[in-house]
Order: sequence, then structure tokens, then C-alpha cells
Amino acid sequence: MTEKSLTSIVVLISGGGTNLQAIIDAIRNGQLNAAVTAVISNKADAGGLQRAAEAGIHTCVVDNKAFASRELFDERLLLEINAFQADLVVLAGFMRILSAEFVSALKGKLINIHPSLLPRYKGINTHQRILNAQDKIHGCSIHFVTEELDGGPVIAQTEIPVYTDDNQDTLASRVQKEEHLLYPLCIEWIISKKLQLVNGIPVLNNKELPESGVKFRNSDYSSFFME
Ligand code: GRF
Repeated sequence: MTEKSLTSIVVLISGGGTNLQAIIDAIRNGQLNAAVTAVISNKADAGGLQRAAEAGIHTCVVDNKAFASRELFDERLLLEINAFQADLVVLAGFMRILSAEFVSALKGKLINIHPSLLPRYKGINTHQRILNAQDKIHGCSIHFVTEELDGGPVIAQTEIPVYTDDNQDTLASRVQKEEHLLYPLCIEWIISKKLQLVNGIPVLNNKELPESGVKFRNSDYSSFFME
């Protein structure tokens, strides 16, 4: 039997895949000592599939519409993931609610990125909702996935200011810029085993993280704070 040398990351997408690209780039530039062994999409036209193919990564489409139930779709998804002996499963714009069975099979190795400072603004349209509420601070979060939508323990967040002349597009683009820095950083913590989920609580360098995880501000990833 051949021994697995590199950490195997499987990335699930539904769309453009800019976060996938950030992970591919972080592997290329040596920030991540891992391999994306497969990219799986539930949509055949997801732009991220092209990015994966260009990077020579195996791609696969599991179309949710072809399955009679969420559970059957998730079962198939899990089979595909397990074929790549995934150490970490990264949801990067994967627009599906996952079944309890799926989440529990991947406990502690399933993470997601969400464009808000969780637990605020779970769900979709976060940028518009921030603008409607006239919030002054926005951001993104990385969290372990549990059965509750966007509800799992937070690993880290980056805050950005909301400017008076911001619109949905400017906000989305500034949040995404942070996502592309924050996701590889959190993935590095996990694959180097600095970060683990212990009894449902993320522990970084042997310290339990507070509910909002590690906090960064405005693209400054040299220092962090914990509330
Ligand atoms: C990101 O903004 C992420 O926060 C959300 O979906 C978006 C995916 O973007 N979950 P991309 O496909 O990685 O460009």
C-alpha cells in the first residue's frame, strides 16, 4: 500500500471559485503543504471547474437535481469525497444545505466560509442586508460545519469597515479580498494541526477559541485579537 504523503483537500463549489483559486495559489506559493485532490461541484457550469482543470486537479460534477432526496445526493457526495481520502473538506461557495449524516461523517474536517461576521447575517444576501441595516462593520468568517446552517463553531473572522458610499458590489469585492487571505490561513492551521475541534470547540495552539474565533482587521494578518 502506498503511503499518503500530502494532506488531501477536497473542495466543494457551486460557482466562480475565487476562494478555490486562492487555495490553489497558496499551495503553489508554498503557504500550504497540501494538495487539492478533487474539486466537486453540484453545478456543471460552475466557473471554478475551469480553474481546477487549469490547475490539473480532478473535477467531478454531482448534480443535485439528479437525486430524489437531499440524503441520496449527500450519500453520493460522500462517496466521491471518500475516494480521495480527504483529510479536509473545504466548502468554497457550495450552495447546498447538508444533511445531518453528511456533516456527522465529516465531523472536525468540514469547514465553510461565510460572507458575514457570524453569528450575524447567516444565510444569503449578506452584503445587501448589511447596507439595509446601515451597519458600520462587515466581514467574513471561517467555521467548522455543523447541522445548523452557517452555525458551526467559528475559527476566525476578518472585520472591514462599511463606507457610506459602499454598494453591494464594492462590499462584496472587499469582503472577498479578505476571504482569499483568511481561508488559506485557517486551512494552514488545520493541516499543520495547530488547530483542532475538541469537544465541539476550536482549539488553536492549545488554547480554546472564543465564540467569535480569532479576529483580524482590514487585511492585517500579522496580528490578531480575541474578544
Ligand atoms: C464567497 O463569498 C463565500 O463567502 C460564499 O460564497 C462565495 C463564493 O465565492 N460562501 P467564490 O465561488 O469562491 O468566488
